[in-house]
Amino acid sequence: MNLEKINHTKAAITAVGGYVPDTILSNQDLEKMVDTNDAWITSRTGIKERRILKDKATSFLAIKAAQDLISKNNIEPESIDMVIVATITPDMNVAATAAYVASSIGAFNAFAYDLSAACSGFLYGMSTSAAYIASGKYKKVLLIGADKMSSIVDYTDRDTCIIFGDGAGAVLFEPSINEFGWEDEYLRSNGEERMALRIKAGGSLYPTSKETVENKWHTLFQEGKTVFKYAVSEMANAAEKIKERNNLKGEEISYLVPHQANKRIIDATADKIGLKENQVLMNIAFYGNTTAATIPLLLNDNKSKFKKGDKLVFAAFGGGFTWGAAYLTWAF
Ligand code: COA
Repeated sequence: MNLEKINHTKAAITAVGGYVPDTILSNQDLEKMVDTNDAWITSRTGIKERRILKDKATSFLAIKAAQDLISKNNIEPESIDMVIVATITPDMNVAATAAYVASSIGAFNAFAYDLSAACSGFLYGMSTSAAYIASGKYKKVLLIGADKMSSIVDYTDRDTCIIFGDGAGAVLFEPSINEFGWEDEYLRSNGEERMALRIKAGGSLYPTSKETVENKWHTLFQEGKTVFKYAVSEMANAAEKIKERNNLKGEEISYLVPHQANKRIIDATADKIGLKENQVLMNIAFYGNTTAATIPLLLNDNKSKFKKGDKLVFAAFGGGFTWGAAYLTWAF
């Protein structure tokens, strides 16, 4: 191996964008659809409302988020080298949504593909993007987390329909021009638990048939308690691992940027690494769980707070199971 050829460029987030649709689905709206109530949903999840995209696909959300990033930061779309869309709700099962998004935003010199890791999709995508930049091969990687969860939710199932919403967020990764950027990551998965959070049919295991449709195997199913238990322990453990091996004290962490699945899961993670409430970013009350979009939407909603050098710890848990945590210093 020619060590001189290895480029240890640090990757930095240099721009952020986001988009949520206008239509609001509130807890009160859900009370009219299933046997639930605002008090239960608020106390068990922290969610008050979510956004729903009507009549359009996930690419619409992703394009809007990317265009927000491009226009606010004067990015030349043709200078983008690659586009990754983290999603579990692609426009179609075959034909990467990312390719359509890249063409639609004018990123004509980019190659593009989708990344599927459910609620950890954006976290895994940040690792992928940072590694491409660190390799020295590419200079501008556009990472988008986008999900139209309303397209796979069964609105007669109160266990799941109260949780999810639609949205998209985007970040640009570039080589850092200062000492700040992607610092560390701890990523894991466990496929033995894949049936606990899944869409059973429509893939090669159970191709679409009359039976799969009649059995409602095309919408999201989760064993809420199992997922909750794993999410609480693994998100917290991963965040703790990142904190320890980077010698970070609780008070040194500027913000925890956690996947937004359930306020109780976020609180447990924050407790484990010794953070106060003002160090924890949260918007779950307004958007619910937007799957791959939660983390970039949090960054977009809070970007005015961040200062150069701020220490951000990310943590996520999702179907697969997939999970992990990461540490990034804010570069601009
Ligand atoms: N409204 C009112 N009551 C409901 C309800 C709803 N929407 N959903 C369930 N309940 C009832 C249950 O039937 C149960 O009643 P019982 O005690 O009479 O049997 C009771 O509330 C408690 O249900 P339980 O499933 O134990 O609730 P919970 O505290 O585990 O919360 C979730 C349910 C789904 C909110 C929680 O398990 C969770 O957040 N899981 C992880 C979800 C997640 O993160 N998924 C995305 C992947 S990251």
